[in-house]
Amino acid sequence: MERELGLEIVRVTELGALASARWIGRGDKNAADDAATTAIRSMFDSVSIDGTVVIGEGEMDDAPMLYIGEKVGNRRGPSVDVAVDPLEGTEVVACGLHNAQSVIAIADKGSLLHAPDIYMEKLACGPELAGKLRLEDPLEVTLQKAVHYSGKSLSELTVMVLDRKRHEQLIAGLRKAGVRIQLLSHGDVAGAIAAALPDSEVDLYLGSGGAPEGVLAAAALKCLGGELQGRLLPDGPFELQRCLRMGIANPTRVLYMEDMVGTGDVIFAATGVTSGEFLSGVRFIGKERAETHSVIMRAQSRTIRYVRSIHFLPGKEIPDGMALRKNAASL
Ligand code: FBP
Repeated sequence: MERELGLEIVRVTELGALASARWIGRGDKNAADDAATTAIRSMFDSVSIDGTVVIGEGEMDDAPMLYIGEKVGNRRGPSVDVAVDPLEGTEVVACGLHNAQSVIAIADKGSLLHAPDIYMEKLACGPELAGKLRLEDPLEVTLQKAVHYSGKSLSELTVMVLDRKRHEQLIAGLRKAGVRIQLLSHGDVAGAIAAALPDSEVDLYLGSGGAPEGVLAAAALKCLGGELQGRLLPDGPFELQRCLRMGIANPTRVLYMEDMVGTGDVIFAATGVTSGEFLSGVRFIGKERAETHSVIMRAQSRTIRYVRSIHFLPGKEIPDGMALRKNAASL
């Protein structure tokens, strides 16, 4: 993949963020998601890839746009898999909270896991701990290894966890061990990335969240030299069948980086919608301009590039998602 693709991809996440930002704090998470989805879909047509969506808005029958298997791009570039979350943190935007972003990862064709929309147990860490930890280990063993390989004491370790009832036991175990915990209300792609950013104080990301978000986070961690291990958590026979239908023969085995993002190059881009772990959100300036903050990363070079853009809004067509809502209603 050409490195210039990163700049093309970030233009797409920027538009997704600008479109959904109009819905910040309006209490309508579907409208925010529809706006981001329409914007991203429209922008993809100009990107020089022959892309296939492997992680998107859902299966073809449920999603009018960015459905799994949909072709995106102008077909004048490499054949790639596309994982896209037009709005990671729909509820966040609806409630005007922190940590929503528009996210895309692209990788060589056939390398991204087709993850069903179910929960995944995750362990994410940065380069220092990559390859040293095992998702199957008991919590105490993981923490001991983290202490050993990071050179920090238990009280100096910081673990990030989604603040959910299902994590009560995990949080109690971490408290008992004496580590610092940062609780996250939403947005576990940013949470997992926080564990691998060179300037972050987070050492580990633990707990369960969406499986598609797990693959997106794994793509970012590959660019950062970190690691994400995951295990799908199918809840009942229906979800188990979905895993099998999506080609995952042993749905409860531990998934490693190669399983989720392959062995080739990956490009990851994200633009903040509301301010979060590592990106500032969209800021509207007067009536005509808006500022966005994005990150572009590439596995091959491991460069982390932050992009601050000031957009002139009258010169941009920013979809509001209303057309998509009408389409979806008629599905
Ligand atoms: P959405 O964008 O789909 O709302 O996801 C937000 C999110 O926080 C993800 O980052 C995370 O993987 C998932 O929700 C966790 O799910 P739940 O809120 O059910 O615990």
